[in-house]
Amino acid sequence: MGYRVVVAGATGNVGREMLNILAERQFPADEVVALASRKSLGTEVSYGDKTLKTKDLDTFDFAGWDIALFAVGSEATKIYAPRAAKAGCVVIDNSSLYRYDPAVPLIVPEVNPEAVEKVRNKNIIANPNCSTAQMVVALKPLHDRARIKRVVVSTYQSVSGAGKAGIDELWDQTKGCYVPGQEIEPEKFQKQIAFNVIPQIDVFMEDGTTREEWKMAAETKKIVDPKIKVTATCVRVPVFVGHSEAVNIEFEEFLDEDEAREILRQAPGVLVVDKRETGGYVTPVECVGDYATFVSRIRQDSTIENGLNIWVVSDNLRKGAALNAVQIAELLGNRVLQHA
Ligand SMILES: NC(=O)c1ccc[n+]([C@@H]2O[C@H](COP(=O)([O-])OP(=O)(O)OC[C@H]3O[C@@H](n4cnc5c(N)ncnc54)[C@H](OP(=O)(O)O)[C@@H]3O)[C@@H](O)[C@H]2O)c1
Repeated sequence: MGYRVVVAGATGNVGREMLNILAERQFPADEVVALASRKSLGTEVSYGDKTLKTKDLDTFDFAGWDIALFAVGSEATKIYAPRAAKAGCVVIDNSSLYRYDPAVPLIVPEVNPEAVEKVRNKNIIANPNCSTAQMVVALKPLHDRARIKRVVVSTYQSVSGAGKAGIDELWDQTKGCYVPGQEIEPEKFQKQIAFNVIPQIDVFMEDGTTREEWKMAAETKKIVDPKIKVTATCVRVPVFVGHSEAVNIEFEEFLDEDEAREILRQAPGVLVVDKRETGGYVTPVECVGDYATFVSRIRQDSTIENGLNIWVVSDNLRKGAALNAVQIAELLGNRVLQHA
């Protein structure tokens, strides 16, 4: 028998991908329901070759449903996730609301699958930030071999990470740049995003870092190892889908670049594309629609004792959100629900 699965936020960027991925991976679902806000009532969304009519999250009764994949943002999650969890439905949440709650597991299945055992604390599992998810998939196998001390990461994050409104703003503003009088003022982003880059994602914290940068550090500690120090600079770039990261890693032990490349080739969820020639690396447009975290430009950093540089690219709506959530659901099915 299969599961009864809820997708909350089904009209959004992440929710639509969740439905696609549930169908692509033939997740064992007997029934799938698509939920969104009242204004989207009846909106049609695709689930494999079926079409689902969206229902209202606010009036939905979670009793009798097994798993709810949430992608509705923190405010709505605060209201509806506890409601689902209380009704016995396990919530896998994409917002940042529960990520730092010590009782709630924060999971990337390739990295810390064992954390799923703690699901019954609150009946909620958190999905990490998109930038963290792809980075830790690449870091974990290297950490296991040579112990990571410190990571310096600069991100190049696509506008789809800011939801439907982010995609629309880049599209409209880009067109507006060519038509005198039709320029679009920044609304979703802090400054013009078309033909520009913005070194701010989320709000500023007291020490001058942004919350997105703080999230990468806090989540890496929770998922991989609390001893790893991370300093991040998160930048929004005019790319529709696909986050890129330039990652500098300092290890406790020496790790040769050839061995690192081999370790990454064997690592779950990683695809190494690393030819030392023009074009021998992956860019965001090439990773759209893929499951993998791509690693390129693997090279020694000889300016520090045990240093390595890598370039990490992934589809932020997939490994950064929807795919990771569906993988967690698979893990939950295999390790917890099957034995209930
Ligand atoms: N995009 C990414 O790369 C990414 C990565 C990791 C995590 N996340 C997180 O995933 C969540 C969704 O992101 P997104 O990019 O999919 O955003 P989005 O494209 O703006 O979609 C938001 C979805 O949430 C629904 N929603 C919002 N408020 C609601 C409410 N009060 N009641 C019911 N439904 C409500 C919307 O329904 P309507 O269409 O009816 O308004 C829509 O389906 C956010 O928490 C985000 O931080 C996103």
